[in-house]
Amino acid sequence: MKKTPVYLLITLILFSSCSKKNKSFPENFLWGVAVSAFQTEMGNREGTNNDPNSDWWLWTHFNVENNTGRVSKDLPENGPNMYDLYEMDFDNAKSLGLNAFRLSIEWSRIFPDDSGIPVAKEVAHYHQVFQALRERGLKPLVTLHHFTTPLWLHDPLWFIDRANHGNGPKGWLDDRTVHEFVKYAEFCAKEFGEEIDLWATINEPMVVSIGGYLNPLPGNAFPPNELNPEHMVTATINLMKAHAGAYRALKQYDNIDADGDGIASFVGIVQSMTDFAPLDETDEDDKVAAEHASYLLNKWFLNAVARGVLDSNLDGEAEPSPELGPTVDYIGVNYYTRMRVYKLAPIFPDYQFIDFLPSFPEDCENNPCSDMDYMIYPPGLYNVLLIASSYGFPLYITENGIADADDNQRPQFIRDHIAQVLRAINDGMDIRGYFYWSLVDNFEWALGFSKKFGLFSFDPATKVRTMRPSAEVYSEIIGD
Ligand code: GAL
Repeated sequence: MKKTPVYLLITLILFSSCSKKNKSFPENFLWGVAVSAFQTEMGNREGTNNDPNSDWWLWTHFNVENNTGRVSKDLPENGPNMYDLYEMDFDNAKSLGLNAFRLSIEWSRIFPDDSGIPVAKEVAHYHQVFQALRERGLKPLVTLHHFTTPLWLHDPLWFIDRANHGNGPKGWLDDRTVHEFVKYAEFCAKEFGEEIDLWATINEPMVVSIGGYLNPLPGNAFPPNELNPEHMVTATINLMKAHAGAYRALKQYDNIDADGDGIASFVGIVQSMTDFAPLDETDEDDKVAAEHASYLLNKWFLNAVARGVLDSNLDGEAEPSPELGPTVDYIGVNYYTRMRVYKLAPIFPDYQFIDFLPSFPEDCENNPCSDMDYMIYPPGLYNVLLIASSYGFPLYITENGIADADDNQRPQFIRDHIAQVLRAINDGMDIRGYFYWSLVDNFEWALGFSKKFGLFSFDPATKVRTMRPSAEVYSEIIGD
C-alpha cells in the first residue's frame, strides 16, 4: 500500500486553512457538487471512453435504435467526456471554493465480465481521478452503484425483448447480483481505501426498483420497464441486502484514514426523498395517500438499513432484521421536489399501500416548476431532512438541483434551498454537507441531454465548459 505523500498532506492542510468558508455553517461542512459516471464520463471524439458493458448502455441503444419511445433520442457517448477532462472539471469545482466532490465508480468498467479480474487500466484511471481531487483539496464522496449494473449481471432487455433476451440475467431480482456487489465493494475498499474515506453504497435504490418495476411515466423508462409489484419488492429487498453487505465490506477492508481526520471509512446510503403532501389538504383519503407515498418511497428502505426492521411484504408491519441494519454511518438525502398525491383504490390487491398517484405534472399549472416539471418547493427540503434526521444519524444533502436551461430559476433555487439547510442546522439537525447536482450538464437518463442541471454547460462539439451565472451565486454563498 502506498502512503499519502507528504506534499499532498501539506497541500491539504494549506487549502483547508486558507479557504474562507461561510461562517454560519459548521466548521468542517462539505460544500460540493455531485456527478455520476455513466452520466458524465463518455464523450470523446474517438469514442475510446465508451463503456458498452453496462445495462444502461444497452438500454439506451436498443430503445433509440428501435425508436420505442421509452427514452429520448440521445445517447450517453455524446456526453461531456469527464473521463478525459476531469482535471479541468475539478479545477472548475475548486475555483468555486468547493471542498468536496461526489462521483461514482463505474462497476462495469472495472469488472466488464464475470472473470473476476479487474481491468488494470480502469483501476489506474480511478486512482488518478481520486488523486486529482485530493490535490485540489476536494474530498471525494464515492458512490459504488449509481443506477448502472454490468451487463453480465443484468440484461435490461429480458422483459421488453423476451424472444432474444428472455433468458438473460435479471439484475436486482437475482441473489447473484447481491453477492457480486458485495465482492465489488470489498475490492473497492481494498483498492481505493487509501484515497477514499467517504463512501455511498447505492444511489437512490428506490428509484432503481420503482423505476424498473412500477414506473408509469411514458418516455422516461428505466430498465427493465416491467409493471410488477412482486418484482419491485424483490428488487428492493435485494438492494437492501446489497447495501448491508457492501457497508460491512467497506468498514472491514477500508481501514486507511486517507485525510488524517481520524476516520478511515464513513459509509452511507443515498436516498431519494420527496416531500409528499395531500392534493387536497382537507381530504382524509389524500392524507392517507401522502402517508403511504412517504412510507413506500422515503421510509421503507431507511427503516431497514438505518433501523434494522424489514417490512418484507409491504403491509406496514416490520420485523427486526439485524442482517440489514443498522448499516449506515450517515444518510445521504437527495431532494428535488414536493409532490402532491391523491388517493386511489389499491392498484394491486396484495399491496394496500400502493394506492396513490401524484398530481405531477399538472401541479405546474399553478406553481413554479423546473424544466423537469418538478414543483420548486424549498421548505420541502427541510421537511425531508426532518424525516431523515429522525433515524438518528448524521446527514449529507448528497443531491439537490434544478433542470433550468436558461439559468433563470437556478440562482434563487440555490439560495432558498441552502437557507433551508441552515434552518435545519440551527434547529439542531446534524447536517455535514451539501452537494449541488450537478457540476456540468449531463445525460439525464431516459430524458437525455435536454434537461440541464449544470452550474456549467458544455458545447456538444468541442466539450468546452461555460460557467452559468448561478455558479457564482453558489460560490458566493460558500464564501460568505
Ligand atoms: C437523481 C439521480 C441523478 C440525476 C438527478 C437529476 O435521481 O440520482 O443521477 O439524474 O436525479 O434528476
